[in-house]
Amino acid sequence: MKRINQLFALSGILIVSAACTTGQKPEKVSALMGHEEEITALIARMTLEEKVNMLHGKHMFSSAGVERLGIADMEYADGPFGIREEMEPNSWKPLGLATDSATFFPTGSALAATWSEALAYDYGVGMAKEARLRGKDMILGPAINIQRLPTGGRTYEYLSEDPVLSAALSVQYTLGSQDNGAAVCLKHYALNNQENDRGSIDVKVSARAMREIYLPPFEAAVREADAYGVMAAYNKVEGYWCSENELLLNRILRDEWGFRGMVISDWGGVHSTVGAVTSGLNVEMPGSRYMGAALLDSVKAGVVPESVIDTRVREILRVRLAIAPVPATEANKVMSSLPAQQQIADEVAAHSIVLLTNDGDLLPIDPMKVKRIAVIGDNAVRRQSQGGVGAGVKALREVTPLEGITNRLQGSGVTIRWAQGYRYYSMRDRYARVSPYSDADPKLMAEAVQLAKSSDLVIFVGGNNREVETEGSDRTSITLPMGQDELLQQLAAANPRIVAVMVTGAPLDLRRAQQVSLAMLISWFNGSEGGNALADVLLGKVSPSGKLPFTFPLQLEDSPAYSLKVYPQQARQQQGDVFVNLVDKKEAAQESGPVADYAEGIFVGYRWFDTKEVPVLYPFGHGLSYTTFTYSDLQVRADDTYLYATLQLSNDGSRNGEEVVQLYVGRPGSKIERPLKELKAFRRIALQAGEKKAVEIQIPLEKLRHWDEAANDWKLEPGSVDVLIGSSSQNIRLTGTVQIAAR
Ligand code: GLC
Repeated sequence: MKRINQLFALSGILIVSAACTTGQKPEKVSALMGHEEEITALIARMTLEEKVNMLHGKHMFSSAGVERLGIADMEYADGPFGIREEMEPNSWKPLGLATDSATFFPTGSALAATWSEALAYDYGVGMAKEARLRGKDMILGPAINIQRLPTGGRTYEYLSEDPVLSAALSVQYTLGSQDNGAAVCLKHYALNNQENDRGSIDVKVSARAMREIYLPPFEAAVREADAYGVMAAYNKVEGYWCSENELLLNRILRDEWGFRGMVISDWGGVHSTVGAVTSGLNVEMPGSRYMGAALLDSVKAGVVPESVIDTRVREILRVRLAIAPVPATEANKVMSSLPAQQQIADEVAAHSIVLLTNDGDLLPIDPMKVKRIAVIGDNAVRRQSQGGVGAGVKALREVTPLEGITNRLQGSGVTIRWAQGYRYYSMRDRYARVSPYSDADPKLMAEAVQLAKSSDLVIFVGGNNREVETEGSDRTSITLPMGQDELLQQLAAANPRIVAVMVTGAPLDLRRAQQVSLAMLISWFNGSEGGNALADVLLGKVSPSGKLPFTFPLQLEDSPAYSLKVYPQQARQQQGDVFVNLVDKKEAAQESGPVADYAEGIFVGYRWFDTKEVPVLYPFGHGLSYTTFTYSDLQVRADDTYLYATLQLSNDGSRNGEEVVQLYVGRPGSKIERPLKELKAFRRIALQAGEKKAVEIQIPLEKLRHWDEAANDWKLEPGSVDVLIGSSSQNIRLTGTVQIAAR
C-alpha cells in the first residue's frame, strides 16, 4: 500500500481500492505453495514420532522441527505491539538479557485511530525487523477481534468496532510483517470479544453477524495479505471450541478463504486430541497434553489416520520453508529496538492522537503566552509498555507525557510543575480485587489544586492504565478511575484553563470531564515515543489527525450488549482465568462456561447507536484538527464492477493538516434489515494550508454484499444505495445516490 500511495500521490489523484475484499474468491495462490514436492519428500523421510512431535509445544514459545532433517524449530513471540522479552524455556521467568529491550509500538486502538493503511504497513515492517533480530519466525499478532464491548479487557490491543477499518489495517500489518521475513499469527480466531470467562464462554452468534462483523479482518488478512498463521481462540463458537472447530478451521478458513498456513492454539486452549487435529489445529501450545503422546497413541490405534498427521505437518512445513530460520548464534546479538523502528512508533503515535474538543482554541499552546504550566496526573509519568497479564513489552525507551512536554519546551522559559493528582491503580490492587473506581485521594487532590491555582494552564493527564485495562478480565465500568472526575471538578474551580489528555485504549465516560475542560484529547497507550508525539500536538508542531476507531457512548448502559442485557453474563466462573491458571500451573476445570448471546447481531458499535437513534458522546470516526477542511463536488456512479466516488477536499485553514475522508453507505429502501450506515472505504489525505486535492474512491461491488443466511452465501441486493461522505460517522458532509443493477 505504501508503494501504491507514493505512485498515486505523485499524480495528485488518489485512487483508493476499497479497504478489504471480504467475500471475494481467493485472487491468488498462496506464496506458501512453492515447496509442495520438497515437503512431500521431507514427510516421506519422517518417522511418525517426528511428525507428531511437530504438533505441540517444545518450549513456552516454540514448537519442534526435525533436527535430523535440518528442519528448524518454530520460534514464536508475542506481539502485537512489541516483541516480548526472552523468558526461560519452560517458565514465565524473564531471562534478563541485555539485548531484548524492544520498541513499544502504539497499541492496537492507537494504530486504528490513525486510519492509515500506510502506517499499518510500516508498523508490520517495524515488528518484523525486531522479530528477526530476536530470532523469531512468527509474531503472535496482529490482535484483530472486533471491539463488541466498550469494557472488553483487550480493547486497547484490538483495532476497531468496525470490520472494514479493522480489515484494512490487518491486511497492511500482515503485508508489512511478511514482506520483511516474519510470519503473522492472526488472533484470536474467532469471536474472542470479551475477557471474562474467555476460556469457557460459548458464543451464540448469527451467521450473518459472524460473516459481516467478526470474520472480515481475518478473511481480508488471509485473502489479501496471505497470512501464514492463525491463533485459535480460547472460547467456543456455537458449542465448539475454536481449537477444534471444523467450520471455522477447515471449512471457512481453509476451504473457503484458501488459507494454506498453520493454526496454533492459544496458550492452554486445547480440549481434545482427535477433535483438534482433525478439525484443523496444527500446533497445541505450549504443552503436549493432547497433541503429544495421546495423539501418537490415537494414530497407532487407528483412530486418527496418519494422512491427517501428514496434512497438519505439511501446513507447518509450508510456513517453515517460507520463513528463513534465524540461527541461534545470530539471535539476540544486538539491541533490537533501533531508531528506524522508534521513528515508526513516533509516526504512528503522532497520527493517532484524537482531538475531541477545542473550545476557544486553547490549543495549540503558545509558549509565548503561557509561562507556568501545571501537568497533573499519575498517567503523566506512568509508563504503559508493561502490565495486564500477557503481552507487555520490555521497552528500550518510553517517553512519558511529562517527559515529552518537558523535552519540547526545553529553553522556552516555560515553568513546568507536576502533581500526581490521583493514586496509581497497580497490579497489586488488581490481584487484591480492589476496584479502580474509588474516590479521589484527598491529599493528592489538595496538592494538585494548589498547583493549579498558581499556574497559567493545567494539562490534566488522566484515563486508564495497563492494569485497569487488561487481558484476562473486562472492566466493570467506563468511568474515569481513581476519582479523576472529582479531581477535575476541583481543578476547574481553581483554574478553568484545563486541557484534558486521556491516556486510554478504550472508551471512557467523559461527560463530566468534558464540562470542565476547554480542550480534550485521546492519547492512547501510545508507545515508545508517545510523550513526544503528544507534546508535538499540544504545541502545534503537528495538527491532530486521529479519528476514533470506536464510539464513546454517553453511558455504558446504552451500548448494545448492555442495553439488551446479554452482558455481563451470569456470575463469573470461579475457575479463574485460563491463562493465569496456566502460568500458575493450576489445572482449570474444562467445564463449559456461560453462554454469550450476541443478540445485537450486526448492530455493533455505531451500527447500533445510529440505527437505534441512541445519542453518543463522541461518534465513531470523530476527530478534530487545528485547521478546517471543505468537502465539495461529490460525484458517484456505479458500473457492474465498482462503485465510484469522486470529490474535492480542501484545507481552508492556516495550518497544514491531514483529514480522514470516510465513505459510508446506507440502503433505506432495502428489503432486509440493515444498519443506517456502514463504513465501506476511507482515505487519509494530507493537505498544506490552502491546498485542494481530488479524491477518488472505488469500491468493488462485492463489498456491498450482505450474508444471506437462507442461501448461506453472500448476496448483492440490487437497488438504490446512498453514498455518505463524512469526516465522522455522524458528520456527513456530502451525499449521493447510485443504483445497483440486478444481476
Ligand atoms: C495469552 C493470549 C495470547 C498470547 C498467548 C501467549 O493467553 O491470549 O494473545 O499470544 O497467551 O502469551
